[in-house]
Amino acid sequence: MTLAAAPAPTFDKGLANTIAAETQMSFIDGGKGVLEYVGIDIDSLARNSTFEETVYLLWNRRLPNRTELAAFTQSLRDEYELPEGILDLVRTMPREATPMHALRTLVSALSLYDAEADAEGEEANERKAIRMLAKTPALIAAFDRHRKGKPFVAPDAKLSMAANFLWMLNGAKPTDAVAKALDVCLILHADHGLNASTFAARVTIATLSDLYSAMVTAIGTLKGPLHGGANEEVMIMLREIGAIDRVESYVMDRLARKDRIMGFGHRVYKAIDPRATYLKTFSKQVATDTGNLGLYEMSRRIEEIMAREVAAKGIYPNVDFYSATTYHSIGIDLDLFTCMFAMSRIAGWAGHCIEQLDGNRLIRPAAAYVGPHGQPYVAIEDR
Ligand code: CMC
Repeated sequence: MTLAAAPAPTFDKGLANTIAAETQMSFIDGGKGVLEYVGIDIDSLARNSTFEETVYLLWNRRLPNRTELAAFTQSLRDEYELPEGILDLVRTMPREATPMHALRTLVSALSLYDAEADAEGEEANERKAIRMLAKTPALIAAFDRHRKGKPFVAPDAKLSMAANFLWMLNGAKPTDAVAKALDVCLILHADHGLNASTFAARVTIATLSDLYSAMVTAIGTLKGPLHGGANEEVMIMLREIGAIDRVESYVMDRLARKDRIMGFGHRVYKAIDPRATYLKTFSKQVATDTGNLGLYEMSRRIEEIMAREVAAKGIYPNVDFYSATTYHSIGIDLDLFTCMFAMSRIAGWAGHCIEQLDGNRLIRPAAAYVGPHGQPYVAIEDR
């Protein structure tokens, strides 16, 4: 028997033209600027849904009825609490540590307290996904309180995920408007096709490793400034600019030096990112309500200059651009912005991992070797 020759692999730097997985969760049309979760337009979800309902949609591929939503929400609230050992670990962490390093470590540590950490099968993975999603806000809040020398705040199972996070972070109940603003950001960040961190999570789970390991891989990947770290970089940029009359020279200088303007450009969108469209209007409202309109106006001016200078290249604001203003306006510290992204995207990562395991195949692309051949082994004393 002879084996049929496999087609020769082609080199696709950055995998921009490779379809590496199938998903039923989110659909993106980068040319038209469309994003749908299970066929529902993102704008309509941001206006009408809640984060909990959106996660149910992503994980079950349909909207829940009232009873299903109540049961799902309760299953998350039942898991808000952190194990005492995790709180002890937070207490030992250096206060100056970067929150994303702390979060990656703490999600990894959660596995040590989960008797099902290595359990296989869809149901066990769904239970683990609920645990990780429900506990991540508490991890972020606990680390932030620890570094500020403040006591931990126990979760309140009567609150939504967004409101409970803000309660644990600040020790005060958020207003409905502020909780809603965070809830909208969580909806907008929940899933986004095969982005870099989701791909990383799928690679990990495809080896038949476990869901905790996949989430840790994804958090490490999200942290980079070309991916989820961009929202923090946007805020740093807005601070550096400082005033609206300095925007033009700042942006033009950066572009002249071929430096990137963070929060712009996207591998998939060559039109405006629909999440940015929604957040632009939304962040204006939130910024106005919280006395941060100056920040919004600066962002709008950056967008105008970028439209004039680089829109022809298909570079428009992405989700990170106006989410920076929104997070700042609702009182989230700059170095927690990327943690906010992770808190939401765990929904997408976990959903993708469960999809990957259904008909799994190891993800193992090839590398083109470009080094020398036929080299002699030289003894160490002769080198
Ligand atoms: N500012 C200025 N020029 C840019 C930018 C930008 N933000 N993004 C891309 N370009 C230019 C780039 O210099 C290149 O120009 P040229 O063809 O003249 O050399 C051209 O656009 C194509 O860039 P690329 O790097 O080949 O595009 P890519 O698809 O590999 O990169 C990206 C996509 C998101 C990494 C990139 O646009 C970028 O670095 N943006 C800034 C970081 C950022 O905001 N990331 C968040 C992405 S959205 C949320 C998420 O997924 O996490």
